[in-house]
Amino acid sequence: MEESCLVVLLRLCVQFFALPVYLLRYLGIWDPLCKKMFPYFMAVASIVYNKLSAEKKEHFSNLKDFAGSTGVLTLLEIGTGTGSNFEFYPAGCKIICTDYNPNFMKFIDKNLSQNPHLQMKCCFVAPAEDLHQIPDASVDVVVSTLVLCSVKSTEGVMREVLRVLRPGGAFYFMEHVAGALSSWSRFWQQIYDPVWKILFDGCHLTRETWKDLENAGFSELKLRHIQAPIYCNLVKPHIVGYAVK
Ligand SMILES: C[S@@+](CC[C@H](N)C(=O)[O-])C[C@H]1O[C@@H](n2cnc3c(N)ncnc32)[C@H](O)[C@@H]1O
Repeated sequence: MEESCLVVLLRLCVQFFALPVYLLRYLGIWDPLCKKMFPYFMAVASIVYNKLSAEKKEHFSNLKDFAGSTGVLTLLEIGTGTGSNFEFYPAGCKIICTDYNPNFMKFIDKNLSQNPHLQMKCCFVAPAEDLHQIPDASVDVVVSTLVLCSVKSTEGVMREVLRVLRPGGAFYFMEHVAGALSSWSRFWQQIYDPVWKILFDGCHLTRETWKDLENAGFSELKLRHIQAPIYCNLVKPHIVGYAVK
């Protein structure tokens, strides 16, 4: 999409105000600090997000339908973060947690102790683009919430998701995405994107993630565009749904 002069100008203004952050980054201080502090931010943000998002409860309500022949659901969550989705998973569910930021691990442990209805199969530090620790066709469901905005390669993640899912298994997603073309959301997203990415550990505001899902090669895709009932307009546009292998 072509950007107007106004977008370029306003983006430069935002970048100007963020100069101290750029400087800290240049000095090598910002990125490790952000990796350490981001889990604390997410611990608070996800409580607010879960409270506001009735969609989330609804979204996960049919997870059990994908349980394997034993009736037990084996679920892999990529970019687990603090484990804010645990409360929505069905009782007896076996979970595998992964995140590429090791600083989230203690938050996952804490959240797990508050959700004794789940069984942790394993939890490890790994990028969602390379989950070689997980065998092919070994999980019933993969979950991703607010992760595809940050990954280095959405295509690479989709490849791994399809590899680890058993045939007939499902990929559940709930992701913030680029707003509609010519909308105010899209306008401001374009302006804030470069600074946002630095502030929020690589999170992009303008990804058209639905296109990656459409092109990934799932046999069925149920996808809805919604406006999440959250305060920040920049991350209101969401996609929610699931895709079957
Ligand atoms: C905004 S948080 C969302 C956390 C959690 N899914 C939730 O909904 O509360 C984004 C998460 O994705 C993780 N992440 C980002 N890029 C990743 C990647 N390439 N592989 C695995 N995890 C990643 C981050 O470390 C962080 O935990």
